[in-house]
Amino acid sequence: MSTGVTVRVPAKVNVQLAVGGRRPDGFHDLANVFLAVGLYDEVTATPDDTLGLTAEGPGTDLIPLDGSNLAARAARLLAGRHGIEPRVRLHIAKDIPVAGGMAGGSADAAGALLACDALWGTRTPYEELLALCAELGSDVPFSLAGGAALGRGRGELLTPLETGGEFHWVFAVADGGLSTPDVYRECDRLREAAGLGATVDDVPDPEPSPALLDALRTGDAPALAAALTNDLQPAAVSLRPSLARTLQAGLAAGALASLVSGSGPTCAFLVKDAESGARTAEALRASGTCRAARSAVAPAPGASLV
Ligand code: C5P
Repeated sequence: MSTGVTVRVPAKVNVQLAVGGRRPDGFHDLANVFLAVGLYDEVTATPDDTLGLTAEGPGTDLIPLDGSNLAARAARLLAGRHGIEPRVRLHIAKDIPVAGGMAGGSADAAGALLACDALWGTRTPYEELLALCAELGSDVPFSLAGGAALGRGRGELLTPLETGGEFHWVFAVADGGLSTPDVYRECDRLREAAGLGATVDDVPDPEPSPALLDALRTGDAPALAAALTNDLQPAAVSLRPSLARTLQAGLAAGALASLVSGSGPTCAFLVKDAESGARTAEALRASGTCRAARSAVAPAPGASLV
């Protein structure tokens, strides 16, 4: 009799998110430098007669618990791939902010894939798991892989990156989430309003920054701070103007740099060390500009059985 299998999956921050023009399929080509950070969701898969899903933790009232949940879709996709029924109960213990721009939903999908693969003994090769992840969403392959990676295409084509040490971060968690498609749409709207155009014919191809890749490789936090960029940040701030105050509060508290994490609304602060992180987190809590402040270290390992 098989018992439950638990998988731990990290959150991510995008240290560079260069957004190209809108493609004919509606997605945007990216130069997306992912860094996995040590905040984790846990997905537990237990044998059951049918597919079921439960969740616990902050923000889980915002998560659909039906078949549309990305973790449930992951279980169905894997079962279909192996010609079996998705007989599993999935339980998600959430610690990654929900709809926060830190790939929490993608983490749960990657976790469900790995947990079901172990539970069902389907032994899917890693490259095939990565391909299944890409079918589920642009950020899901990175949730499986962890560490640091450059994502091309819509973010799903990964090249692992070397990192030369630990980076300390603080994350300011906002009340409520932002919808990723809404933020991309706002990015297009701002480009059009500025007279620049928003399609692949209008926007230069996004390229990774050599200075940023160097800073990651050498573990140089001040150099990484100087190179952080997120092309979605103006769009996230446009949809949620209060984020400007959050970003400013972390800088005033001594962070090396601030940026919106992915499509937001979580704000990320790169700090010098753990001590500076604790001070920044405390100042952010006291500022009243966020719901919670969390410290985390990067890079974190990818999805793994616990
Ligand atoms: O791939 P994923 O399902 O995470 O994407 C969610 C939405 O974000 C897409 O439907 C699209 O609107 C937007 N997106 C995009 N370009 C990307 C990734 C996501 O426009 N590279």
